[in-house]
Amino acid sequence: MQGRVAWNVSPDWPLETDRLTLRPFTAADFEAIHAMRSDPDVVRYLYQEPLSPEETRELLTRRIAATSWTREGDWLGAAVVERASGLTVGDVGLCWVSERDRTAEIGFTFDPRHQGKGLATEAGRALLDWAFTAAGLHRVIGRTEARNGASARVLEKLGMRREAHLVENEWVKGEWQSELVYAVLEREWAQSRDSASQGVR
Ligand SMILES: CC(C)(COP(=O)(O)OP(=O)(O)OC[C@H]1O[C@@H](n2cnc3c(N)ncnc32)[C@H](O)[C@@H]1OP(=O)(O)O)[C@@H](O)C(=O)NCCC(=O)NCCS
Repeated sequence: MQGRVAWNVSPDWPLETDRLTLRPFTAADFEAIHAMRSDPDVVRYLYQEPLSPEETRELLTRRIAATSWTREGDWLGAAVVERASGLTVGDVGLCWVSERDRTAEIGFTFDPRHQGKGLATEAGRALLDWAFTAAGLHRVIGRTEARNGASARVLEKLGMRREAHLVENEWVKGEWQSELVYAVLEREWAQSRDSASQGVR
């Protein structure tokens, strides 16, 4: 079925899941974002190098402004707060890739102290639910460096299909890197949603 993504579309913040609150970033998220983005292990398979405090401030300014989509290429991001501790533990978002094709790309970064608890998967589910219900997307993709096992695993746990393994397609950080491309369609998401163990409440 054809359809369009509405202009100025944004979630009815916050998005709540069993353990998490996804909400727009604020200036108070600086320490949490800097802890992630200045860590060489966290940014190993991202395009960026570890960020300086000034670079983190610039990133956070962009994140604070990125609460809705108005044009292709816009990033719509959320701070992920673990409700029990009140801590900002992650950074998730969707880039609006194509209006015509109703396609977005999902991305996520979590603090190493809070990884391995299923939080990225839980936050990703909330974003996909929003993308396919409220925003009316047809397809969401995920791209990751082929050695980034945790990222690929999260995309798989989200029910996304591996559609490509691009071999040495990008020159990043002084080396040829390879890329995995994952995707899920709206009809596939709708079929799997009922069986998902955690979703948006
Ligand atoms: C990718 C990332 C967001 C995952 O966050 P997380 O909260 O730990 O994710 P989850 O707990 O939901 O799931 C992680 C899964 O990856 C698995 N995993 C962890 N390290 C792995 C590795 N090296 N190889 C394969 N699988 C791995 C975990 O066992 C878990 O799978 P399981 O539930 O089947 O056991 C986090 O590792 C991160 O921030 N990485 C750095 C930033 C990054 O690379 N982002 C993605 C850019 S494309």
